[in-house]
Amino acid sequence: QTGFITLDSGFKNTGATKSSITFLDGEKGILKYRGYSIEQLAEKSTFLEVAYLLIYGNLPTQKQIEDFQHQISRHTLVHEDMKKFFDGFPSKSHPMGQLSSLVCSLSSFYPESLDPNQTKEEFDLTIIKLLGKMATIVSWIYKKSLGHPVIYPKNKYDYVTNFLHMTFGQRTEEVEIDEVVIDAMNKLLILHADHEQNCSTSTVRIVGSSDCNLYASISAGISALWGPLHGGANQAVIEMLEKIKNDGGDVDKWVNKAKDKNDSFRLMGFGHRVYKNFDPRAKIIKKACDDILEKLGINDPVLDIAKKLEEVALSDPYFVERKLYPNVDFYSGIIYRALGFPTEMFTVLFALGRLPGWIAQWKEMRENKEPIGRPRQVYVGENDRDFVPIEKR
Ligand code: SDX
Repeated sequence: QTGFITLDSGFKNTGATKSSITFLDGEKGILKYRGYSIEQLAEKSTFLEVAYLLIYGNLPTQKQIEDFQHQISRHTLVHEDMKKFFDGFPSKSHPMGQLSSLVCSLSSFYPESLDPNQTKEEFDLTIIKLLGKMATIVSWIYKKSLGHPVIYPKNKYDYVTNFLHMTFGQRTEEVEIDEVVIDAMNKLLILHADHEQNCSTSTVRIVGSSDCNLYASISAGISALWGPLHGGANQAVIEMLEKIKNDGGDVDKWVNKAKDKNDSFRLMGFGHRVYKNFDPRAKIIKKACDDILEKLGINDPVLDIAKKLEEVALSDPYFVERKLYPNVDFYSGIIYRALGFPTEMFTVLFALGRLPGWIAQWKEMRENKEPIGRPRQVYVGENDRDFVPIEKR
């Protein structure tokens, strides 16, 4: 502590704001959105209902959710000029880089969003446009990665079904999306919808605190989520499990590598800043994993490796002492893969789920008229020095 400044790298012990959106208890493994437990919402709700709950504070009535769905379905098309951006990306460029750029470009197509003094109606429309267009953008990024033509949204479908049709649909024929896939997608998006002041949400808040528009603030959040220590972990977990499988499935060897301080390898999908017990989302996803793979008749060898890895790690003192448990990213990738998504799309799917949470947090920050985020530092650099002309250096 120097003077009035308390150094807290990574904000491990700093409360950045007051919020009424999401409650976490890291010791007890509790997660609630606006007071509703994640277990109940994952079981009984739809993703769009949860999006409404997070953004507007209450579970919607039948009329409210119908209006919400209707408004969103009127804003699922993206400006045709955005295709020029899609065409400009190299075909193998990472979906998260594309998503961050494309979402930020929405501020160019809807310049009214730049006005920090939008009326409530104008701001609600900005939110509706973002929710509607994000699902289209995500599915188009996937289609581009395959070199397939994009599929346009159809208003007859609900939000998640429409996303799946744009993603797995074909120009040449109508495809049936299995109810199992629709249910699994709803559940996964609900489980990712918000998580209080994590890295990407804090990024969305701090960018928005400068009166920057919603699209650019969400674009910044997408970039923060991309990192393998955060949302990018779901891609890194599958890559790690594949590596262990290809290395003969010797789980003990990799657990020992993760404990070796001289080895940069970490068990991806393990550990959490807040959950020092199990991550309630991981528990739900692990169970869903078994259900979905069985219903789809899929036997994925990396699931067996994941379960063995969890078992070995949770009986190892190194992990137990450090309270390192599987987090939301540990099993989610196995389900995404079973639903037919390639590994590179996993973090984009995390972003699609987290979007309503980011919007709700940004909206709360603005409604509470929070000041611009501007932390201080403890200076540890050089003392006074006089300038030395270059010929004398
Ligand atoms: C998400 O914040 C959120 O809410 C995020 C999220 C959300 O919904 O928004 O929940 C989503 O990002 C989940 C986390 C996904 N990331 C990973 O799975 C990457 C692997 N996990 C870690 O890198 C790490 O656990 C973090 C980043 C999740 C948390 O890091 P912390 O809180 O800064 O903890 P730390 O890095 O200081 O680790 C504490 C100790 C260290 O050992 P010591 O220095 O005490 O000897 O635990 C060790 C670390 O070396 N450690 C690990 C480890 N994670 C921590 N050792 C091996 N493997 C790991 N995965």
